[in-house]
Amino acid sequence: METTIEMPSVSVPGNVTDTRSLPFGKVPTDHMFIAEYADGKWKNARITPFQDLVLSPMALCLHYGQTVFEGMKAFRMNDGRINVFRIDKHYDRFIKSLDRMCMPAVPKDLFVNAIDRLVSLDADWVPSDEDGSLYLRPFMIASEGRIGVKVADEYLFMIIASPAHKYYAAPLRVKVETEYVRAAEGGTGAAKCGGNYGGAFYPTGLAKAQGFDQVLWTDAKTHELIEESGTMNAMFVIDGTIITPRLSGSILDGVTRDSLLTIAREKGMPVEERSISYKELLAAFTSGKRVEAFGAGTAAVIAPIATISIDGKDHDCYTGDDALMYRLRQYLYDIRKGIVADGHHWNHIIG
Ligand code: COI
Repeated sequence: METTIEMPSVSVPGNVTDTRSLPFGKVPTDHMFIAEYADGKWKNARITPFQDLVLSPMALCLHYGQTVFEGMKAFRMNDGRINVFRIDKHYDRFIKSLDRMCMPAVPKDLFVNAIDRLVSLDADWVPSDEDGSLYLRPFMIASEGRIGVKVADEYLFMIIASPAHKYYAAPLRVKVETEYVRAAEGGTGAAKCGGNYGGAFYPTGLAKAQGFDQVLWTDAKTHELIEESGTMNAMFVIDGTIITPRLSGSILDGVTRDSLLTIAREKGMPVEERSISYKELLAAFTSGKRVEAFGAGTAAVIAPIATISIDGKDHDCYTGDDALMYRLRQYLYDIRKGIVADGHHWNHIIG
């Protein structure tokens, strides 16, 4: 589908050279993309100055949660060009999430063109510092005004952007959560829909009040199998083997998770995608095995976990400089920065 995107006549350059002092997701770039869906069609695709929305208080997204989003990043490569990392995989996941939430697909050319145009226009906002990136947030909401519980007939698809640094400043202290759950099989856990995040606030708040940064979610049936860590996929390295929960339907198909597993396999590192219970972690800790743990996600990249609390007892994870997770992170950085060959065509070059 060929959709024309209206562009503003003036570009207002930002000026981001150092992202270290920026709180995550607080400063928007100058522009945003917006398109409207009604009568079965996408229309009025345009890039505008970043601005507030006018929305009916009856908009269905405000009441029944038809909201889906993606989190992507644009990077400044070492040669100065800009790439949007893994645009195809993010698009595919967006479409799957939309389908799960009964929301209309966005044609791929509209999605890709919108990102190309927005990132080109706000190119000065793409940082060049080591951990800096331009975080991109494509999202869709049900905009139809109706109080009756129904699948909406009208939607807004938007993309906003914000320069970002590391999501977590320091290694995390997490607690294995065995009372509350993030998602159950058959639910929406594999979709990137707003409700998954809203529902996590309460248990995460309880954990924070106990001095933890995040929870390590367990499955809804047994409360023993590790699912995710906060808003990230959970990964472990036990005695040199990378272990991460298999995608069970209640776990998000993380793009960073996939990139790291692909890189690890290519480097000949042992990788196991399988169920892992907190009891297995406990056994590894008590038998003195070296355990690395980290969260993997677009925003967080790799967030090292320093401590895992199981049944109220703290266990230390390995976070030394030679930890395997840092090597994996470096391989990922090198691809995104254009330092090593991008064998999988993960870098979508802008311009
Ligand atoms: C991401 O990693 O992009 C996420 O969506 C996590 C969070 C910022 C909501």
